[in-house]
Amino acid sequence: MHTLGDDTYRKITALMYDTVGLSFNDSKKALVSSRLAMRLQRLGMDGFEDYFDLIAGDHDEGEFQMAVDLLTTNETYFFREPRHFEVLEEEIVRTRRQSLSVWSAASSFGDEAYSTAMLLGDMQLQGRIGGEWSILGTDISDRVLRSASEAVYPIERLRHVTPERLKRYCLRGEGEAEGFVQMSERITQHVRFGQLNLCCPIEDIGPFDVVFLRNVLIYFDNETKREVVDRVLTQLRVGGLFFIGTAEGRVPCEAPLQSLAPGAFRKLADGGR
Ligand SMILES: C[S@@+](CC[C@H](N)C(=O)[O-])C[C@H]1O[C@@H](n2cnc3c(N)ncnc32)[C@H](O)[C@@H]1O
Repeated sequence: MHTLGDDTYRKITALMYDTVGLSFNDSKKALVSSRLAMRLQRLGMDGFEDYFDLIAGDHDEGEFQMAVDLLTTNETYFFREPRHFEVLEEEIVRTRRQSLSVWSAASSFGDEAYSTAMLLGDMQLQGRIGGEWSILGTDISDRVLRSASEAVYPIERLRHVTPERLKRYCLRGEGEAEGFVQMSERITQHVRFGQLNLCCPIEDIGPFDVVFLRNVLIYFDNETKREVVDRVLTQLRVGGLFFIGTAEGRVPCEAPLQSLAPGAFRKLADGGR
């Protein structure tokens, strides 16, 4: 069993902080050690110092990604925090929006993006919005993004999806694919995914009418949280909706926000920067 020394721990956590904003204090050493130890074993490496050299070097971007995956959790499921989807529906009706562009800014496997697609698909069928709506999902991890683009999910993750929506938007797997569902083209045609690090400057990818930034701020320290929120909000239209995880509290930011529900806000004006 390898031991993670204090110096190497600091080097690994500094690398994660500088590159992707992940913040680990000393109390997280056992967690970091146990998550990476399995990987060292699998790679047959001699110790954490060698592993640090591997992920810090330029030659193995794949292993760096692997370390990020091991140190973050990608947990997500369809219609997580359902009140947010109700707020979204109410606001679209209230503002009588016909077209809509949405950003799922830490999309993980895409559950949030496709949940939104099901809601917007229904609204389109009911004639409450037009057909011009699109959803962009982004994440730091290319492993989750590859899976999101395939749009195949274990049925368990769709436990909060109504039977009508399951029928309308999902194709059930058979044989070897039993227990999995594939999102239908009806919604996949509106959804695309790409890699984006929230801790780096963002080129103009918006403006969006709706931004989800849910359950990712928990990884960042206060300063990084603020920077990320300010950066993300530059891509949101004035009047647009902004969602963060309900457990993430209110994050200070430059743009004035009106609170609509826990974790749900309307952007009232641009920030000062
Ligand atoms: C717990 S998941 C949240 C998924 C979804 N938003 C939800 O609420 O169900 C957090 C995601 O944030 C991503 N993440 C962590 N740091 C990131 C960064 N610096 N830039 C972009 N994504 C990041 C992780 O890869 C992970 O997929």
